[in-house]
Amino acid sequence: MELKNDLLIRTAMGEAVERPPVWLMRQAGRILPQYRALRGKLSGFKELVETPALAAEVTIQPVDELGVDAAIIFSDILVIPEAMGLPYELIEKKGPLFPKTIQTATDIEQLQSGAKAATELHYVYEAIKITKQELNGRVPLIGFAGAPWTIFAYMIEGSGSKTFSKAKRFLYQHPDLAHQLLQKITDSTIAYLHKKVDSGVNLLQIFDSWAGILTPELYRTFALPYTQQIANAIKRVPLTVFAKGAWFALADIASIECNVIGLDWQTSPQYARQFVDKVFQGNLDPCQLYGQADEVKQATLSMLESFGGQHIANLGHGVYPDTPLDNVKVFVDTVKSVVYQPDHQAIKS
Ligand code: CP3
Repeated sequence: MELKNDLLIRTAMGEAVERPPVWLMRQAGRILPQYRALRGKLSGFKELVETPALAAEVTIQPVDELGVDAAIIFSDILVIPEAMGLPYELIEKKGPLFPKTIQTATDIEQLQSGAKAATELHYVYEAIKITKQELNGRVPLIGFAGAPWTIFAYMIEGSGSKTFSKAKRFLYQHPDLAHQLLQKITDSTIAYLHKKVDSGVNLLQIFDSWAGILTPELYRTFALPYTQQIANAIKRVPLTVFAKGAWFALADIASIECNVIGLDWQTSPQYARQFVDKVFQGNLDPCQLYGQADEVKQATLSMLESFGGQHIANLGHGVYPDTPLDNVKVFVDTVKSVVYQPDHQAIKS
C-alpha cells in the first residue's frame, strides 16, 4: 500500500522535506473524548489492547481528530513481559502492576523468549493489519517496544516507581543474572518487532522510559548494548530511539545504528547536536500545553526554530490525559502551518 502522506518516513530517512511532520507520544488515549467513550464501555485497558478491531479504532482516532502525520499502534510496552510469562495488570489511577516479579535465576530460566514469546502477541499483529487496511495509506503506522532496560525495570520492580531502586539493586547485586534477563528480553523484542514489520508498520520506536535513572556507566553496561542489538537486527524500516532523561549518554546513543533520536524537554537540540548527527524528534514540554493557546503557539514555533531542519515535531514525553484538547490542536496546527525555507533551516508561518 502506497502512503499518501509519507512526510514522517522521508524525514526519518534524512531527506529534505517541506515542513516537519508532527505526532504526539500517547496521542491515542484519554485526551480524546472518543477514546474515553469507548473505554468506558469496556472492562478495562487490556480488553482494548487485546481486541484488534478496537485497538485499530483508537489508533485511528487521533488521525481523524487531530490531523497528525502518523498513527501509533494502540498497545503497551508491557505486553512483552506478559508474553514471556509475567502477566501485568493496570490498576486504575495507579498504573502497571505485576503480581509476580523476577527475583531468582530460576525465575529467569522459566521465562519464554524469542519467537516463542513473540507468537503470543497475535492480537497486536492482527490490530496492525486491520489498522493498515482502515488507514488506507493516509499516514504511516508506527510500531513500538520498550527498550530492554525499561522492560527489565518493570519485571524486577513489579510496578512503577520514582527510583526503580529494586531494579537498580539487581544490577549491582546480580550483574550476570541481569545480563541473562536482558538478553531474553532483547531476543523476544527482536522477534516481536520483526513480526510488527511483517504485519505492516512503517517505522519503529524504542521507548527507554527509565534510561534517565542510570549512571553513565550503568547505561553503557546494561542498556546500550541491548538497544544496539535491536537496531542491528532490524533495518527494514526506519528506527527511532527515545531514551528519556539520558542526556548524559548521548555520545553512546549516537553510536546506535538508528535513524532518529527522540529528545525529552530537558535536552535542547543545540546540546544534543554536539554528540548526535541524526534526525531529532521532540521535544515540547507536555506541560506547556496547559498554557494559553497563544503561548502554546509561540512555544511551538520557537521549538521548531531551535531544531532547524531534520526534525520530527513531538512532545518531550507522552501527552498527559488531562491536557486541553484545543491546545493539542494548536500544537499540531502550528507545526502544520510552517514551511521550511530552501536552506532547510529557517521557518516562516
Ligand atoms: O502513544 C500512543 O498513543 C500509543 C499507546 C501507548 C500506550 N502505552 C497506551 C497506554 C504507548 C506507546 C505506551 C508505551 C508505554 N507504556 C510506556 C513508554 C512510554 C512512556 O510513557 O514512557 C510505558 C512506560 C508504559 C507503561 C504504562 N502503561 C504506564 C506507566 C501506564 C499507566 C500510566 C497512564 O498513563 O495511565 C500505562 C497505561 C497506558 N498505556 C494507558 C494508555 C492509553 C492508560 C490506560 C487507560 O486508558 O486507562
